[in-house]
Amino acid sequence: MSAAPLQYLLHAAGPASAPAYRLGWALIALVMAVIVVIAALLLGGLMRRREPPPSGARAALPPDSGGLHWIVIGTGISTVALFGALVAAMVTLESVASPPREPGLTIDVTAYDWWWKIDYPDALDPSRSFVTANEIHIPVGVPVRVELRSADVIHTFWAPKLAGKTEMIPGQTNVQWIEADAPGIYRGQCSQFCGSQHAHMAFEVVAEPQARFDAWRDAQRRGAQAANAPGVRSGQRIFADRCAGCHAVRGTSAAGMQAPDLTHLASRRLIAAGQMTNTPEHRLDWIAHAQRIKPDSLMPSIALSASDAVALDAYLSTLQ
Ligand code: HEC
Repeated sequence: MSAAPLQYLLHAAGPASAPAYRLGWALIALVMAVIVVIAALLLGGLMRRREPPPSGARAALPPDSGGLHWIVIGTGISTVALFGALVAAMVTLESVASPPREPGLTIDVTAYDWWWKIDYPDALDPSRSFVTANEIHIPVGVPVRVELRSADVIHTFWAPKLAGKTEMIPGQTNVQWIEADAPGIYRGQCSQFCGSQHAHMAFEVVAEPQARFDAWRDAQRRGAQAANAPGVRSGQRIFADRCAGCHAVRGTSAAGMQAPDLTHLASRRLIAAGQMTNTPEHRLDWIAHAQRIKPDSLMPSIALSASDAVALDAYLSTLQ
């Protein structure tokens, strides 16, 4: 699995994005060819010398050299090239509109200011559905249908190596599909300005071989393990007091719906929609200084005593 999940625009990593990249390069080649031809003609014109008129004589206009047919040729070539680009764009749009095979999986992504709720619904057995946040897992080589919604304003779902952009519009469901050719972490980002923390609204798509994906999904379906150790139990009580109004931890009484589900928080690579790696220090920093790290975020900065912070972190670390 690649260690550096760059949000790299110049490579495609799946069949929903590859046609658009090919089209992009073809259009760049076309534009470069136009620049080279125009520059060559311009240079040729500048360097062509004409005999200067005899001194005192008025410069005579050059005889009509039949320029009209050059205009016709130039316009004709441009028209054919632009029409070709139009056809190529239509063919590309059509080829990425729907996956080549039935999607093997459907997930729902709902955008919130400024994080992503990820639902894995199970139509046959709703008790196997689960919710997570900011980290999407998919099996490699399988088309995945992604239903896109917004809880507040217009956002845009964009994982550039896997697919083009699709808007997420309040009150509407848009559908995108993604597929990864190889295991790896593919970074994504909201690409529609959605408020002050728009730039800090990232997510990751983790593509894994089917067996690893299945193991991840089975683990996510389970509720949180029971908090048995005394330090952990007091952490859970603090969580119930200070955090459960917004955050849910399945398998406990914490059932807040307005914030990321934290049932398996410790299994995620990053927190706060891609802002920090998920270490105990960063988690406590985020809890104490959410408003400094993401000003205006709907997570308040929460002051905890040193002993409460230790207990809360012991509890959060059990949310594997
Ligand atoms: C008023 C609602 C609210 C309360 C109370 C609250 N949070 Fe949050 N929390 C949020 C929101 C909203 C986010 C998403 C913020 C963002 O990324 O923009 C969040 C994000 C987080 C994240 C990052 C999750 C992820 O997957 O990226 C952690 C960890 C977290 N909160 C822990 C806590 C803890 C621990 C407490 C209690 C001490 C707490 N929160 C209290 C609303 C709340």
